[in-house]
Amino acid sequence: MGRNLIHLISQAEIVSTVRRLARELDRDYQDRSLVLVGILKGSFIFLADLVRELNIPIKNIEFMRLSSYGSSTVSSGKATIAMSPPAKAIAGKDIVVVEDIVDTGITTDTALRYLQNFQPASVKLCALLDKPARRQVSVQIDYLGFTVMDLFIVGYGIDFDQKYRQLPDIYYLEEKSHG
Ligand code: PRP
Repeated sequence: MGRNLIHLISQAEIVSTVRRLARELDRDYQDRSLVLVGILKGSFIFLADLVRELNIPIKNIEFMRLSSYGSSTVSSGKATIAMSPPAKAIAGKDIVVVEDIVDTGITTDTALRYLQNFQPASVKLCALLDKPARRQVSVQIDYLGFTVMDLFIVGYGIDFDQKYRQLPDIYYLEEKSHG
């Protein structure tokens, strides 16, 4: 079965939204030393654009990677940490976790809880996209780009079967009907 890519958010809209989020972070972290933690892989393009829009100096950029267990994630409500920053990069620091999309909330919730083990000074969440219709775990998004419907989102770092991450715009996949 084929799929159509349907355009959802343009590059220009993304640029202005990333700028707006950077201004919010500039305002809130002007007197603090900010550590950004990108959740791989999906956040790599958003994080790269966001840091170039920030005016405040960044203390550090770290990454985390989480693995979910396919469909069993739905029942277990858990993701496992596949890669994490060293404890000393988090302890006592002001952390902003950077996510491309919050869907069920399981990945982000797991990441936020895990980082709390390292006793950071603060932890906030910056997400480009929020898909609240699919939420299973409550997650507070402190800096949010766009809210989207329950669609299969791709582009701007977000994949379907590892494809489409390179697209500069954001799309959703629609199943083609035959006949
Ligand atoms: C996607 C996305 C978020 C997560 C959101 O990552 O990048 O990290 O899922 O889903 P959730 O709210 O239901 O947990 P994925 O696990 O597909 O890995 P990837 O970023 O490497 O593509």
